[in-house]
Order: sequence, then structure tokens, then C-alpha cells
Amino acid sequence: MGKMRTHRKSWALALGVFLAAGSAGATRQYRGGAVATAHPMASEAALKMLNKGGNAVDAAVAAAFTLAVVGPYHSGLGGGGFALVHDAKTGETRALDFREVAPQAATRDMYVKDGKVVPGLSTDGALSVAVPGAVAGYLELLEKHGKLSRAVVLQPAIEAARAGFWVSPKYQAIAKARRDCLGQDPEAARIFLVKNAEGALEAPPIGHQLRQPDLARTLTTLAKSGPAPFYTGALAQAMVDTVKAGGGLITREDLKAYKTRTHAPMEGSYRGHRLLTMPPPSAGGVAVVQTLGVLEKLRPQGLAFRDPEEIHLYAETLRRAYVDRTKYLGDPAMVQIPLERLTSSGYLADLAGSIDPKKATPSVSLLPPGEDAGGSTLKKPDAGWYDPSTSSEKKNTTHVSVIDKDGNAVALTTTVNYGFGSCVVAKGTGILLNDQMDDFSARPGVPNAYGLVGYEANSIAPGKVPLSSMSPTLVFSKEDPKKVMLAVGSPGGSTIPTTVIQVISNVVDQGMDVTRAVGEGRVHHQYLPDELWVDQWGLEAATLKALEAKGHKLRRLPAWGDAEAVYSDPRTNLRSAASDPRNEGTALGQD
Ligand code: GLY
Repeated sequence: MGKMRTHRKSWALALGVFLAAGSAGATRQYRGGAVATAHPMASEAALKMLNKGGNAVDAAVAAAFTLAVVGPYHSGLGGGGFALVHDAKTGETRALDFREVAPQAATRDMYVKDGKVVPGLSTDGALSVAVPGAVAGYLELLEKHGKLSRAVVLQPAIEAARAGFWVSPKYQAIAKARRDCLGQDPEAARIFLVKNAEGALEAPPIGHQLRQPDLARTLTTLAKSGPAPFYTGALAQAMVDTVKAGGGLITREDLKAYKTRTHAPMEGSYRGHRLLTMPPPSAGGVAVVQTLGVLEKLRPQGLAFRDPEEIHLYAETLRRAYVDRTKYLGDPAMVQIPLERLTSSGYLADLAGSIDPKKATPSVSLLPPGEDAGGSTLKKPDAGWYDPSTSSEKKNTTHVSVIDKDGNAVALTTTVNYGFGSCVVAKGTGILLNDQMDDFSARPGVPNAYGLVGYEANSIAPGKVPLSSMSPTLVFSKEDPKKVMLAVGSPGGSTIPTTVIQVISNVVDQGMDVTRAVGEGRVHHQYLPDELWVDQWGLEAATLKALEAKGHKLRRLPAWGDAEAVYSDPRTNLRSAASDPRNEGTALGQD
């Protein structure tokens, strides 16, 4: 009893401090761990692990496996991703890279015919599949950093596959957008589409209970035997047979050779907060560190939220960060990347100095034709060259953020790339395969599905990892640079880094609670196309006019991204979590 009273008293005291600090909002505060994911069933799976005594890794892995079942359009066993894992006891953070790699038979021009990139070849069907890493990555995280058994952690995913989940508006919209692609593969069509009265394939109705018994069996096998069946056993054979039959390249040797990679996290800082994010093969982490580093130099603290001057500096910084992505970034195992220089204070000061506070710099002037490796000529960017509004339904990826009661944290972003990946399912296994090969630059200077342009650094080669935008990020407390304050990440292809940057700035610069920080409207620039993208509630009319007057070409787009964030208040040690209101996820926590 005495113990209980003390506990209550300290809780009341903590709450008092918290309220006095003035950040109380509608966001629920938790004394225990908290989680945010893109699907309620994944968040529930994660919370279940925390309630069983599991740590942040158990929770994140349970969520990731569940997302593979209930969100096949964004991630899955046939995909890959990145995770940052922070161990509160040691203060160490690990960056695990379980991204897909190009098969050994891949060639630089495999998607080019008669000098032109063949539309769809790198996004739809067996030839778009890279060697998957998600299973190796999730299970390695669990084995090295988790507390619970595979059987316990995979149980929610197995149950979800067996019992099914209901088809949501999001599922339906993406299945509609990818119906033709899914319809090319009888196994994918059987699982993810339905037949209408006329016998034609279509997206299932909202509320349809979608069961995946094959996937339940596959997950049960993984729970029992670990990754071996996937990389060297019967599951590997099924993937190879299906991909080969569809004209793809993956072999048994490719799967057997697959290895995850551990990197030193990429380090940056913003307004006194240390931040750790994903280094190459993520281009996202570099953009996060560069952009926040430049903005710290350029944007005075306390500049009014959404002041056109502030948005202008932000857009100009991004324009330059994405030029560096285009020029320099690729798989660090195969490409010399001047990473230290690109993130050094001197270089960031040069970038800051190159920005005209009054006028937008035309993108075409930043990379003169022929300057880059490969000598390819930069196409003249124009608004029609890449149309972001036509493909918003198809782009996909997902993110899981967890901070547990002990301060361990995971930011995990995972993907099959496009909606429903390649639309190819390995026969009899329920494993939906990625189309991550599209994240390579199929031909220097030609934009991929996200409008991103790359050069030699990101050209296709056997065993090479395609460049990614995924940016799982941890922001640390100012007072204690080993204590995680914010875990954040998002899907959205090229817009991922800018979503992450804006959530961080909303928390750090504006002191927003995490719900507000994740919900605020977004603005994006990626150098090419030369447009400032503004989400539908992003900016007011007067701000848009002021930006146009500075020379920005504006494009209003439907909302993008699905940020998932967990915040741990350094003053109160209470956690709060937010799942993007633009989507269907949930944030949950332990009281
Ligand atoms: N496939 C999306 C990304 O990795 O950026």
C-alpha cells in the first residue's frame, strides 16, 4: 500500500509538472510504452507484446509482421526496409539495413529497350523483383534485441492471416489502382481481388474479410524454424519458381547469399537535439541531416510558423539537398559517397550561402547538363514531365515507431515499394514480392515512379542495393543526448524525408504535441520536377501568393505521407504517440 501511495504521488507530481509546462493537449499521455503504426491491428499486436513484458523491439517486430498481413499494399515478407534500434541501457543505437538487393543476373540497362525505359517493366511483374530482406531483418532484430520468443511475437500476424482483416477504404483504393497489375498474376488476383457478377476481377468491397491461409502457414513456418526456409528452403524454391516462370531473375543462390547490413547511424543535430537517422543506402537520412542543418543556420528561432520566408528557405534547402541525392548517393558498398563532406558544417554553410532569400533558384541551373558522372544530359524539367498526382494511390511503404517504458526505441520503415509491390505472389506461400528494382535509376536522368532522378551512383548492378528515401529517425533529448525524445518515420517515396523533417520541426521549433506535429499540412520540394508541392490544407492563400511572388511553381496535391511518431517527454517521462490523421493507423500506449 505504502508503495502504491508513493507511486500515485509521484504520478500526480509528474502530471503537475507536465501541466505547468504548458504542453497538455488532447494527446493522451502514457506512463508505459507507446506505439504508432499504420494499422490498428499492428498497433494492437505491438501493445500486446509490451503488455507481455516485451521491449520496443518485440513490439516493433510484432507490428511489422502484422503489417505484412493487413497492409500487403505497403509492406510484407517479400519486401525490405531499415530500422534504427536504440538500447536505453547501453545508450547505443544500431542502424539495420534489410533492404532488397539486385539479383546477380541484373544488368544496368535491363529496363531499357531501343534507348528508352520500358514503362511498367521495373514496377509490375517478376522482372521488377529484387532479393527480399524483410524476413532476415525482422527476425535478426528479434533475435539480437528482443526478449520474447518468435512464436509469441509472430502470433498476432499468424492470427490476422488466418482469421482475416476487413478491407478498408485505403486497401480498396490501392487495389483499384493496381488492379490490372494484380490481375496479371493468378495467385495475387486470387488473394487480393474478387470477381464481380460478370466474372471480372475487381478490388474487394469495403468490409470484405480478407483471409490468407497460405501466408498463415508461411508465418507459422518462420515462427518454428526462423529465416532458413525463406532463404534456403521450400519457401525459397517457391519464390524462385514463380519469379522464373514470370521472366524474373532471382535464383536460389541470390536468396542464399542475402545478408542484412549494419551501419553506423547517420548523426546530425537540430537546435541542440542530437538526431540519428539512416545513412546510405537511404538518401532520406542525408536529406534530413542536411536540411535541418542548413535551416538551423538560416531560419532564426521563433520565426512565425508558416511564414512565407520560412517556407521559402525550407524549399530552397530541399532543392539543394535533392541535387546532392541525385549526384552522389547510391549503395555505399559500391559507390564512393563523400558523406562526411556533404554533412559537414562548412558544406552546410556553403549550401545556406547559395540560397537567395528573395528568389527561388531554378532547378535546372543547379546541375548543368553533362556535369555529372555518366555525362548524361539533364532533361529540361517541366510540370508535365512527372505528374505526382497520377500515382499517389500506387506509392507505398509503412512505418512503425515504438518507445517502451524503459526508453528503448525503434523506428522501422519497411516497404514492398509500389502498392502491392510487383503484384507477384510466390505460389502456395502467400508471399507478395517487391518491385524495389524501380528504386534504381533505370536510365540516368530519367525519373522513377516517384519522380526521382538518379545518375551512375544509383545505376543497376548485380548485388547492389537500390537507393531509398526511407528515413526512420530518432531525436534525442537536449538535456540527455542518449535519451530518445522522438521516434518518427513515414511512407511517401520521395516525400518521406520532408515529412520527417516537418514533424521534427513542428515538435522542436513550435513545441507542438505529437498529434499536432504529425497532423499539420505539408510542403515538399525535391529539385525535380521544379515545383513546390503543397498538400491540400498545407498553406493559406496569402502564403501561396507570397511564394509564387518569389518564383516558386506551386502544385496543390491531395495529402501525402503517413507519419507515425512516438514522443517521450524529457521532463515528465510520459510518452505520447500519434498516427497520421490522413490515414487509417492507430497510436496506443500502456497506462
Ligand atoms: N521504395 C521506397 C523507398 O525506399 O524510398
